[in-house]
Amino acid sequence: MPAGAYTNSDFFDLEVEKVFRKEWLPVGHVAQIPNVGDYFTIDVLNELLVVVRGRDRIRVMSRVCLHRWAPVCEGSGNAKVFSCPFHRWSYGLDGQLIATPLMEAKGGFNPRSCSLPEIRSEVVCGTIFITFSDVARSAGELLADWTEAMEIYRPEELKIAYSVEFDLNFNWKIAVETFMESYHHIGAHATTAEPYYPAKLHWVDDTREGWTAGHGYLREDLPTSVAFGEFGGKLDPFPSLSEDQLRRSLVHLVYPIHCFFIGVNRLHWTALIPVAVNKTRWVRHVLVQPEALERQDFPEIVERLRQSGVKITEEDMAVNDMQQKGAASSFAKPGFLHPLEKPTWQLSDYVRRRLGS
Ligand code: FES
Ligand SMILES: [Fe+2]
Repeated sequence: MPAGAYTNSDFFDLEVEKVFRKEWLPVGHVAQIPNVGDYFTIDVLNELLVVVRGRDRIRVMSRVCLHRWAPVCEGSGNAKVFSCPFHRWSYGLDGQLIATPLMEAKGGFNPRSCSLPEIRSEVVCGTIFITFSDVARSAGELLADWTEAMEIYRPEELKIAYSVEFDLNFNWKIAVETFMESYHHIGAHATTAEPYYPAKLHWVDDTREGWTAGHGYLREDLPTSVAFGEFGGKLDPFPSLSEDQLRRSLVHLVYPIHCFFIGVNRLHWTALIPVAVNKTRWVRHVLVQPEALERQDFPEIVERLRQSGVKITEEDMAVNDMQQKGAASSFAKPGFLHPLEKPTWQLSDYVRRRLGS
């Protein structure tokens, strides 16, 4: 991709129109809202959304009040109704307008005919996906082969060990590419990931329609236990993994912005939400087996995982900040890619196909 694809606002607007408004985008994981009434808010492409577990199902709705546009809720929590702070119009968990103080006397207005607009959503492997498209093919259908690959981790049953969010000052493609390619382990992660999962032992699959995957391998001379011990926060591995699988780590990209690091004992659920050409919202939930939460030493495990996870992320952000600056130079041309950077090529190809040239 030319460097302008990372710096030009018109190009970003085109991506919004032809990619993000048409594809399936991750907004969260079911573990964020286990009980009826649980909700969280998230902003995607200037749409202010609320994701809520209703009595019957999960809904993703606009949280912009139908009266004078104030958001009816913020943050996360548990609600019986959403009551707008401005003039106290109230909405049920299904978005139905149920109370409009002092409006009863105003003829011709029927609150019962009003609801917060719902955005099309689907849950696949525990991820709550949305699309603004009426015609996009079902996410479950598109990602049937991904569901199969993820089955072994029981992703819909996992719980959140911790969550973390960052506002990045670089283009969404830079964030996705760096998540997926392992060539940079020798530079950015020379003392953190490289000593355990060296770049030279990685390889990348050919792309599927909806997703792609990269595979890493634990350094040959290290015992398997290092993967869930010293490198994995001392948390037990997923029970169903073979000896060979215990030596692997995986990265998945569900196009265009849903990334997973899959370790032997945890999943790094990640959404890289585009905000502007040089702004990306990075949302991560670290998912572990439900049994882990019952361990007495769970707080220490979480602390170890958080420290190592955030350190690696900060190493990525440091180089990505530099890269975004460099991309604005008139001397920035597409560089020669190493085979380990195949996901970078795959993402460029995906964007190119969506944009039509
Ligand atoms: S803006 Fe929500 S009640 Fe008026
Ligand atoms: Fe990295």
